[in-house]
Amino acid sequence: MTSENVYIWVHLPDASEPIIAGRLEVTTGAAGSIGRFNYGQSYLQNPRAVPIDPVALPLRQGIQTFTSLNGYPGAILDAGPDAWGKRVIDRLYGKQNHPLGYLLLNDAGRSGCLSFSTKVDEPPASPHCHAFDLANLMSAAVAVETNQPVDQALLKALSPGSGGARPKCTMVENGVTWIAKFPSVDDRYISVPRLEHATMRLAQSCGIHTAETRLCEINGNDVCLIRRFDRVELEGNITRRGFLSARTVFYDDPGFAAVATGSYQRLSRWMPRFGATLEDQKQLYRRLVFNVVVRNDDDHELNHGLIHQRNDQFVLAPAYDLVPNLQTRPTNYHALLIGASGAGTVANLIDVAEDFALSKEQALSIVRDIEALVLNTWQDIFYEAGFGDEDIRKVESVFRPIPISQD
Ligand SMILES: Nc1ncnc2c1ncn2[C@@H]1O[C@H](COP(=O)(O)OP(=O)(O)OP(=O)(O)O)[C@@H](O)[C@H]1O
Ligand SMILES: [Mg+2]
Repeated sequence: MTSENVYIWVHLPDASEPIIAGRLEVTTGAAGSIGRFNYGQSYLQNPRAVPIDPVALPLRQGIQTFTSLNGYPGAILDAGPDAWGKRVIDRLYGKQNHPLGYLLLNDAGRSGCLSFSTKVDEPPASPHCHAFDLANLMSAAVAVETNQPVDQALLKALSPGSGGARPKCTMVENGVTWIAKFPSVDDRYISVPRLEHATMRLAQSCGIHTAETRLCEINGNDVCLIRRFDRVELEGNITRRGFLSARTVFYDDPGFAAVATGSYQRLSRWMPRFGATLEDQKQLYRRLVFNVVVRNDDDHELNHGLIHQRNDQFVLAPAYDLVPNLQTRPTNYHALLIGASGAGTVANLIDVAEDFALSKEQALSIVRDIEALVLNTWQDIFYEAGFGDEDIRKVESVFRPIPISQD
C-alpha cells in the first residue's frame, strides 16, 4: 500500500496570492486507488471561499472520496499538464510519477485557479520564468520535438502549464495572458496555427462563442495566440478563474466510470448541475453542429470545459482547439460521441436535439443555418486569415454538405 499527500491551494477570483483550501490523500493498493479530500477549517470559514468543484467537491466538512482517475478528483487533474507539458517537465526534471509528480512540477500557468504543495505551511512554488521572445521559444519547441539540447531557462519558459499535445507556451503581453501555439515539426501539409486561427474566426461568424485568437508571423512561421479565459487582469494583477474540463463533468457522475465514453448529450445534461444555463446548452449545440460541419472530429473531453463565474457557478467556457480534420471521409466519427455512434450526420444531430433543450425543428434549422454560413463564407474568412489559393485548394474538400445519415 502506498500513500501520497498533496495540499490544494486556491487563487480566489480577485486575489493574486493563493490560500490553502484542503488536503488530498491518495492510497493505492491491490484494489486500486482511493483519494480522500478534506477542506480545511480556515477555508470553510472564509466567506469568499469557492468550491474547487461544486458537484464533486462542495464546500462541506468531512472526507469526500474518489475512486476513478487514480483516486484524483477531476478538477485537480485539470491543473496538470498533458503530453506537451509532460514532455517539457521530463526534459527539465526527468520522468515523474503520474499524476502527482507532474501536478507539483507543472508551471504556474496551469489551467484554472489551483496550486499545490507537499507541506501545509509551504506555499506552492511559483517559479519565476524569464521572458523570452516568441522566436527563441519557437526554436526551443523545435529542439524539444527533435530531442536536441535546449537551454534550461528557455525550457522552463516553454512549460505551458495548460494541457494539450501540440507545442505551446504561455505568453503575457500588456497584462493579457495568451497560449502561444507553435507549428509542429510534423505539420508538413499546411500551417496548423493558421488553420486553427481561421477556423476559430469562422466559428465566431457562425455565432459560436470562442476564445479570441490572433496570428503572429515569426521568421516565416505562423504562431496562433489564443487569449486565456481563465486569466483575468484586475487592477494590474493577473487573477485566475476555476476551470473544469468535460472529463471532470463526466467523472463527477458516479456511474460514468462504467461507461467511460463521453458524449455531447451527456455534457449538456450534466452541466446545469454546475450552474450552466439553457443558453449554454443551446450554445453547446451550435458548437457541436459547427464541429460536424467543419469535420473537427478531435473534439475530445479535454477540448470542452466550464469556467467559474461566481460563487458555486460554472458556465460553458468559450470554444477552443477548433481544427478541421483534412482527411476526407464519407462520414466523420467524433471523439465526443453524438448519439451512440459519434457519426457526424444530419440525422444524428437531429436525434439528440432534446438533450440541448431544442425541438427537432429548431435543431434542423440550426444545422441548415450553420452549414449554409460555413459553406458560403469559409473562403472569404480563410483568405482574410492569410491563406493563399494553394492552401484553399488543400482544405476545400472539408467544406461540403454533411451526410444526411450514416452510410
Ligand atoms: N483560451 C483558453 N483559455 C484557457 N485555457 C485554454 C484555452 N485554450 C485551451 N485551453 C486549455 O489548454 C489545453 C490545451 O489547449 P489546446 O486544446 O488548444 O491544445 P492542443 O495541444 O491543440 O490540444 P490537443 O492535445 O487536443 O490537440 C486545453 O485542453 C484547455 O484545458
Ligand atoms: Mg486540445
